[in-house]
Amino acid sequence: MIRTVPTAPYKDQKPGTSGLRKKVPVFAQENYAENFIQSIFDSLEGFQGKMLVIGGDGRYYNREVIQKALKMAAAAGFGKVMVGQGGILSTPAASNIIRKYKAFGGIVLSASHNPGGPNEDFGIKYNIGNGGPAPEKITEAIFERSKIIGEYRIVDAPDVDLDMLGSFELAGMTVEVIDPVADYAELMESLFDFGAIRSLISGGFRVVMDSMGAVTGPYAKEIIETRLGAPAGSVRNATPLPDFGGHHPDPNLVHAKELYDDVMSTDGPDFGAASDGDGDRNMVVGKDMFVTPSDSLAIIAANARCAPGYAKGIAGIARSMPTSAAADRVAEKLGIGIYETPTGWKYFGNLMDAGKVTVCGEESFGTGSDHVREKDGLWAILFWLNIIAARKESVAEIVRSHWAEYGRNYYSRHDYEEVDTDAANGLMEGLRAKLSILPGQSFGDLKVAAADDFSYTDPIDGSVSTKQGIRILFEGGSRVVFRLSGTGTSGATLRVYVERYEPDASRHGIETQAALADLIAAADEIAEIKTRTGRSAPTVIT
Ligand code: G6P
Ligand code: ZN
Repeated sequence: MIRTVPTAPYKDQKPGTSGLRKKVPVFAQENYAENFIQSIFDSLEGFQGKMLVIGGDGRYYNREVIQKALKMAAAAGFGKVMVGQGGILSTPAASNIIRKYKAFGGIVLSASHNPGGPNEDFGIKYNIGNGGPAPEKITEAIFERSKIIGEYRIVDAPDVDLDMLGSFELAGMTVEVIDPVADYAELMESLFDFGAIRSLISGGFRVVMDSMGAVTGPYAKEIIETRLGAPAGSVRNATPLPDFGGHHPDPNLVHAKELYDDVMSTDGPDFGAASDGDGDRNMVVGKDMFVTPSDSLAIIAANARCAPGYAKGIAGIARSMPTSAAADRVAEKLGIGIYETPTGWKYFGNLMDAGKVTVCGEESFGTGSDHVREKDGLWAILFWLNIIAARKESVAEIVRSHWAEYGRNYYSRHDYEEVDTDAANGLMEGLRAKLSILPGQSFGDLKVAAADDFSYTDPIDGSVSTKQGIRILFEGGSRVVFRLSGTGTSGATLRVYVERYEPDASRHGIETQAALADLIAAADEIAEIKTRTGRSAPTVIT
């Protein structure tokens, strides 16, 4: 029944920050997906007879690739595959299934927050047995294999009915089609005080969630509407669509603007939240208060004991380097460890596995904990609801009292998208060349205290990651960080992260861009952004 198919390698199957991401027409080329899946299997050892988890965010091409992956897993010798009904598994739910059922690993089909559709993005990512993204050692092996692959193996069998729950046999391998939501909802219920959140909602607190036509729809409906009692319709855009209804499923002030405007309107809901294509990002807004992802991490960490799953306290916090230092002040007060890692969720895995950190966060709308090994959008949203229910305060009250206690880290990210690649590289090289002469220089009232190119030594396995972003630190705790995006698909994206620490509570009500104006001007002067990119303003400000 196993057919060996000769194939020719593609040269561009190098997995990025989160797996292999390409446009659908690229994936639809002859044997393109098959080559990559076989390269994954060829790079792994010891999975004979073991279990694999497969699921995706429901985007265009999801079902086709799942059928291929199932038949190739059978040919490779896996004993069983657990696959989400309809081919659906959010990224955090897939991570949970891998861990809970002790799978060998999992294949997650997603291009995260990138648009979906016949001419949009698709992606394949491999996760290891701890439920987290494969480390570089494995992704590099996959890439090396993909460059020389000469054949792949697949069983000849009819397609598996992905819509019917139950166990089926596929050429000697068991395929179990599972409810994608049940295990995840149970996990959330074990971590958070659903009773308190239910009372909050039945008391009139109005919650809305925008699933952006993507994977969290069924999860949010089950948890927020069915289990927590929010009225039907509280979860918007709740049906996962192959093209996300034409939306860009990225929860931020640009793409989730409708939700934001609704929450800010006079009669709007008390709490708004959104998640991305595959369910791992989150955005939280309350009346008159947008919570920056950096503040969200700090506030969740400071209030973690409100949630039953974290009642014993947290072991430590990790944040990516460009994420604001708000969490550092919480860690200091709690007397726990704080870790600063390069951008990318995968850097948190070792710290969580070693028990050094419990909660992690990134400025790029990612927050999560060691309950799984991916960031988790709904988890963050439920954590906020739990904190609100426990403290009986609004989002704005919680955020303002946090600032009053710890000081406020004003924070903004300016993105320059689709910049000419040479110009962007030139800008970064220009900065590197200046690092040694910047300390001591002044830009208006700002004096540079230190400047470096961030490098990270993993405290667990000793691996070193260099060139992870240029940091310019000013006296008093303000800073600007420059980095090129690792996830863009065309040209280069320059990200400029701007942060000012303000301890004085009487100065916590300033509009963010105004509070950061001198740092923004200094960033331009130091990096020569306008002259080098030819851009007079950022494309996106968050
Ligand atoms: C993905 C990863 C995140 C990371 C982000 C960075 O979303 O899952 O862990 O923070 O990419 O993206 P960038 O475009 O800044 O490299
Ligand atoms: Zn995502």
